[in-house]
Amino acid sequence: MGKAEAKLDEAIVIRDIDPGSHYIRDWSGEADGNPSFIARPRNVDEVVDLVRYCAENGLAIVPQGGHTGLVEGAAAHIEGGHVLVSLERMNRVREIDELNFSVVVEAGCVLEALHQAVEAEDLLFPLSLGAKGSCQIGGNVATNAGGINVLRYGMMRDLVLGLEVVLPDGRIWNGLKKLRKDNSGYDLKQLFLGSEGTLGIVTAATLKLFPKPSQVETMFLAVESAEAAVRLFAAARRQLADLLSAFELISDKSVAMAMTMPEIVNPLATPSPFYVLLEAASSGPLDLEALVGGFLEYALEEGMILDGVRASSATQAQRIWAIREAVVEAQVKRGTHLRTDVSVTISSVAAFIEEVEAVLAATVGNGIVLTYGHIGDGNMHFVVVPSDDLAGEPRRAMIKASETAIFAVVDRYAGSISAEHGIGRRKHHAFADRVSPTQLALLRTIKSGIDPANLMNPGAIFD
Ligand code: FAD
Ligand code: LAC
Ligand code: ZN
Repeated sequence: MGKAEAKLDEAIVIRDIDPGSHYIRDWSGEADGNPSFIARPRNVDEVVDLVRYCAENGLAIVPQGGHTGLVEGAAAHIEGGHVLVSLERMNRVREIDELNFSVVVEAGCVLEALHQAVEAEDLLFPLSLGAKGSCQIGGNVATNAGGINVLRYGMMRDLVLGLEVVLPDGRIWNGLKKLRKDNSGYDLKQLFLGSEGTLGIVTAATLKLFPKPSQVETMFLAVESAEAAVRLFAAARRQLADLLSAFELISDKSVAMAMTMPEIVNPLATPSPFYVLLEAASSGPLDLEALVGGFLEYALEEGMILDGVRASSATQAQRIWAIREAVVEAQVKRGTHLRTDVSVTISSVAAFIEEVEAVLAATVGNGIVLTYGHIGDGNMHFVVVPSDDLAGEPRRAMIKASETAIFAVVDRYAGSISAEHGIGRRKHHAFADRVSPTQLALLRTIKSGIDPANLMNPGAIFD
């Protein structure tokens, strides 16, 4: 007897779709999609039934988490329609294993909710980014998210021990292992890290946990150049006993942009072209305060910092982090703009920043260039906000010219045009222009081997 035809469970379907809802509109309000319907499965079996139904009816699937992705991966216009699969109802923390320092969590769990759940057990899940209140674990896996703690704990791919995935033909791949070491064959889970919904629907993950820091030192430091920031970074890594957990660079213009948001204040009076947000954290009986005090004295004496403020309470630390987060929030209010997400080696990032800022001076006219990012990972965001009077085609042309100019410098430095946000539908041309034929052939072999009918998120990554 053949398999029964897959039926669609109307209890998980939304057909009357509000075009302004977060399912359709992305975070920036710039991208939208045209799904035939939305499905919100409640468990893995419902995902399996749904995927089988889509496979049998030739319906494309676009998985969606918190819809905070910045490259239009979860908002699609697909000919013939598609099913938008939101994982938001599958949000349980299934198991915390304190001795194994691991957690099993469903894909729809919001990152911040996971933080809270493990912190209640005195543990830490270190992935952290500005969108933590909305993005979901499945989205973090599918984009291989980075964020502010990568220099110490790695990207999402470094934090995943196992995955559960529903494949495009409806089979479940149960790779939810909790093992720290496992060399039995190819590391399949890594294929799904950064796969952007093109290989299957991630339904759960086993993630690494760490002791929750008992001491955190947060400071905002003025530096005279990006080069000084990189020297400070190297000194901090060595002198802070490798306890550095975040090292973000923020240009003066970025701080000024952040200060257009309510309650954002620059705590430093000394004018400076760049600021560094530095955080160190430790657990256990170490005197982090003394360590940081000694380091700051040394950095001042050596002229690595011009001025600085050190948070003396969690509230003050939060005010410093609010500056960094507001840089991103403020951009969105300024209309269509260019966001980039590029990386080079840490050793060349200072010269790289100087070159990018120099080439942009020739393309942006009266627009504003915001330079900020995870300089401790060599990953910078250059954002170009056009002046208000530049609209329509000239605005788009200026954005395109600025992107082309930035990517040309990235190429000269053998860098990446996508360090953490992925390719999605925004960057496929830039990606296609750079990927080698051999690499593309390997990628296509993986895609067609797992998803021969091209049902999963067609148009993402590959054109
Ligand atoms: P979505 O936007 O819903 O989806 C992203 C992609 O993943 C899509 O291709 C989608 O199809 C796929 N996908 C989603 N869920 C699944 C699933 N369960 N199975 C298979 N595929 C799936 N990113 C960083 O890396 N570092 C940062 O510092 C950072 N900061 C940000 C700050 C702000 C304010 C914002 C808005 C975004 C930021 N991002 C950052 C980008 C974004 O938050 C991350 O890419 C995040 O990981 C996306 O998660 P999501 O759940 O919102 O995914
Ligand atoms: C950040 C995002 C945009 O670092 O990646 O703020
Ligand atoms: Zn970033």
